[in-house]
Amino acid sequence: MKLAVVGGGSTYTPELVDGFAQLREILPLDELALIDPAADRLARVGGLARRIFARQGHPGTVTTTDDLDAGVDGADAVLLQLRVGGQAAREQDETWPLECGCVGQETTGAGGLAKALRTVPVVLDIADRVRRSNPDTWIIDFTNPVGIVTRALLGAGHKAVGLCNVAIGFQRTFARLLETAPSQVHLEHVGLNHLTWELGVRLGGPDGTDVLPRLLAEHGAAVAEDVRLPRALVEHLGAVPSYYLRYYYAHDEVVRSQREGPTRAAEVAALERELLEMYADPALDTKPALLARRGGAYYSEAAVDLAASLLCAGGSTYQAVNTLNRGTLPFLPDDAVIETQARIDREGAHPLPVPALDPRFAGLVSHTAAYEELALRAALHGGRDRVLAALLAHPLVGQFDRAEQLTDQLLAHNKEHLAWA
Ligand code: G6P
Ligand code: MN
Repeated sequence: MKLAVVGGGSTYTPELVDGFAQLREILPLDELALIDPAADRLARVGGLARRIFARQGHPGTVTTTDDLDAGVDGADAVLLQLRVGGQAAREQDETWPLECGCVGQETTGAGGLAKALRTVPVVLDIADRVRRSNPDTWIIDFTNPVGIVTRALLGAGHKAVGLCNVAIGFQRTFARLLETAPSQVHLEHVGLNHLTWELGVRLGGPDGTDVLPRLLAEHGAAVAEDVRLPRALVEHLGAVPSYYLRYYYAHDEVVRSQREGPTRAAEVAALERELLEMYADPALDTKPALLARRGGAYYSEAAVDLAASLLCAGGSTYQAVNTLNRGTLPFLPDDAVIETQARIDREGAHPLPVPALDPRFAGLVSHTAAYEELALRAALHGGRDRVLAALLAHPLVGQFDRAEQLTDQLLAHNKEHLAWA
């Protein structure tokens, strides 16, 4: 079996490689192809990847290339984890929206729209080339904004599933608090990517007892701290919002603190310099602990699990993924992409039924899904008016003068990445 990683020179890659090495029983890999245009990063990351495989006795080979077509050739699945414009572009996304009083974030709000506009055409081009090489190859998208990018891929008829580590993070945290194995924790996870709530926590599987009320009664403070929101809010909702909902429920507070502190992009850039330095050390043959300071904890396990279910029926039965709505949330169009628990098999993701969503969740989901549809239109067809339409429809923007200012800023800061701007 061959797996290819586009953006293989990412500092996240050793996380993935470690997952492949540890979980080789469920996903027997012959070749892991790391594809990246940045030669120096790729050499460092590739070297460490080979040493991790060797140390753990993994028989597979790690290949590196800057040639996309060669790298994806013969791959059973291709993982996308690229970042158009790198941390420098992210720094912009996290900065200019603040001038208009809006959150500076790479997936939420105006910064998230900028990232979508830069990313969708690049990802669609890659997916076309993957399909030309082999129409049966699965595309697993971890590239943000995952909801919009997955919607673009599925809308173009690609064989794709979108992945985020928020759900697996909750599964691990709740398992620890409940003193049980993660595999015993079945989440009722629903919404859109980076806009989800845990509505229930069932033990053993979808038909198990819902222990969310007990979890909140016994560990409410720890759960609230984990998502950096007030405990009173979590109790009021009777559901656990993901930490990305902080950008909604505590928007102005986040803006105030973002104006004072360094950007996450700057923090990550410093962390990456340190990590790449470590990766160059020929004595290093494990994933360094420092990597845990990136946001993608458990990403590797979720990705290996998903690939195993899609390719060889070896993964978990249920996983939270991004896939077409197709009536799961009846108030959204069928072609919207939702993030929900699904049964995964070789045919793809089959969402589990979701009970009628309370308006407190459905309202924001619906509003944001409409924004995502407009964001995708802007990413596919360009034009100032389409950018403005998406921003005006975003629940964190709404006002016309603000949407206009943000549109101007977005276009001014992304000229080099947007062919039409
Ligand atoms: C979480 C999110 C990812 C995001 C990452 C950012 O893992 O689910 O979608 O890319 O955080 O982490 P970073 O270390 O780049 O801030
Ligand atoms: Mn994510």
